[in-house]
Amino acid sequence: MKYDRLREAHIFSGSLNLTKASIASSRPFHYPQPLGALHCGKVSLESLAGRFGTPLYVYSADQIVERLGLFQQAFAGRDHLVCYAVKANSALAILKLLADRGAGFDIVSGGELERVLAAAPEAAERVVYSGVGKTAAEIDRALTAGILEFNVESEPELELLAARAQKLKRKARFALRVNPDVFAETHPYISTGLREHKFGIDIRHALRIYKSAAGSRWLEAHGVSVHIGSQIRSADPFGAALQRVSKLLRQLEREGIVLKSVDAGGGLGIDYHGGSFDAVAKVQEYAAAVNRALDGFDGRLLLEPGRFLVAQAGTLVARILQVKRNGKKTFVITDAAMNDLIRPALYQAHHEIVPVRPRAGRARTVDVVGPVCETGDFFARDRKLQPVLPGDLVALLDAGAYGMAQSSNYNTRLRPAEVLVEGAKARLIRRRETIADLLAPEIAAVANGTSL
Ligand code: LLP
Repeated sequence: MKYDRLREAHIFSGSLNLTKASIASSRPFHYPQPLGALHCGKVSLESLAGRFGTPLYVYSADQIVERLGLFQQAFAGRDHLVCYAVKANSALAILKLLADRGAGFDIVSGGELERVLAAAPEAAERVVYSGVGKTAAEIDRALTAGILEFNVESEPELELLAARAQKLKRKARFALRVNPDVFAETHPYISTGLREHKFGIDIRHALRIYKSAAGSRWLEAHGVSVHIGSQIRSADPFGAALQRVSKLLRQLEREGIVLKSVDAGGGLGIDYHGGSFDAVAKVQEYAAAVNRALDGFDGRLLLEPGRFLVAQAGTLVARILQVKRNGKKTFVITDAAMNDLIRPALYQAHHEIVPVRPRAGRARTVDVVGPVCETGDFFARDRKLQPVLPGDLVALLDAGAYGMAQSSNYNTRLRPAEVLVEGAKARLIRRRETIADLLAPEIAAVANGTSL
């Protein structure tokens, strides 16, 4: 692990501390010398913006690999598989990067399965398939691809799975995704482990369902899975959920049902605010809680981290179009908008914003907003920002997870390009969309005889 390098790469919000930080940093971005431009590893974001235009997503492959390594090391003492949650960032190049280092994948749609198959077909056998509404066609495709396990979220879904397995003459490995009724201490939109949520099967019914599935020729009770939410900062809720799973495992064993895997889900959070977050300590604390709760289970542990692996590796680089005043407020208008990064608008999420090339002068309190016609189109409100002028670049930090993956074409805006930085090399992994890309489905419909 290159912790020394990580320690140097430290960014404070509001004011920039360009000296070596004394605390472990969690971001791969740094200013190489005072008054230099922000870099991702050895590559200047200014040069990338010049080459590929803005808004631009830039990811550090080195940090993604490092984060996967942290997970793999923390669980090295037991049989485990890290199944990266594709939804966090589904760029093919990132899937390939992870697959090449042994990762499996957690998918929630047929589309995500196609991404995995396109990036790393050999990883199909390391795929777990979660999600509350799988179609028969999606199930068929996953059965044919030979995925590791279906995380089943309801009894009717289990019946559908059995029917499809029988039809295709392929036994389906399943895990029940149980709902442990544990509060995840996170934003209500991304909390999933309470009985009132749509996710999973009430853990009190799981035993009965496993017993009845034991009679089916086409189903193999392979595991149990649990996922209680996302951006969870404390290890305690994970421990609490897995203790309930552990109790279920013991009940199942008494009935002669021995499961091969426990899927602990994803959800480990990061620090979107300061730079004092110690990723190494966080994973270790998480692993300790998971291992403690699953003491006595010697099957395979599956883990589904998404955000933790990719969030801090990514930034959204935007150019400032205008700086305008309305009454008492100053608005910094960027060429990126809520369609490119919706987290602030959707969850009131905080993303640090720093100038790519800092200017001298005092920080001012501003709103950073995009050009979309909605008041909700903001990245920051009443935020202290270093002085900036139209034409300057800013970096929205910690945007590697649920950034591009949740982007849209709202306001007929073209989605950004994406660049992956590996050491001193940067490569385009997704070109910027063109207007032709956007209009194609409608033009095609017209060409087929319908009229505008
Ligand atoms: N496994 C399952 C079954 C999930 O539903 C999720 C995330 C994960 C794993 C990965 O969770 P992570 O490790 O990334 O926390 N768009 C929201 C986050 C939604 C999370 C949905 N499920 C955001 O931007 O904060």
